[in-house]
Amino acid sequence: MTKRIIKLTVNGEPYEVAVEPHWTLLDTVREELRLTGSKEGCGTGDCGACSMIVDGRLITSCLMLAVEADGSEVLTIEGLARNWKACGRDPGRDRRKRLLEQRPPEYQERPVVIEVGSL
Ligand code: FES
Repeated sequence: MTKRIIKLTVNGEPYEVAVEPHWTLLDTVREELRLTGSKEGCGTGDCGACSMIVDGRLITSCLMLAVEADGSEVLTIEGLARNWKACGRDPGRDRRKRLLEQRPPEYQERPVVIEVGSL
């Protein structure tokens, strides 16, 4: 298949990436940009491990094709963490900790980074 060049701004950095039409945004960010904070859990849009913010909207990047994100602003967990460090604080730390401690045992190992981090 023929690759297509897409442009993304990821965590404030501009990128041009050659992608196959069937590549997901998750795979592209992880494999091509080497930003591996977002994970593939279910691959079906159910778990949220792949969550990213694209043009201000929380999305499951396992369900979004990279070509659909062409021209978009993408924020990954790496960018979120950098923003927290830049402002010298972690605004939702105590609340996140409480929420994580309250999760049922069967969900303790599942990542909830973006939805908790966006509090
Ligand atoms: S990997 Fe589970 S929602 Fe994307």
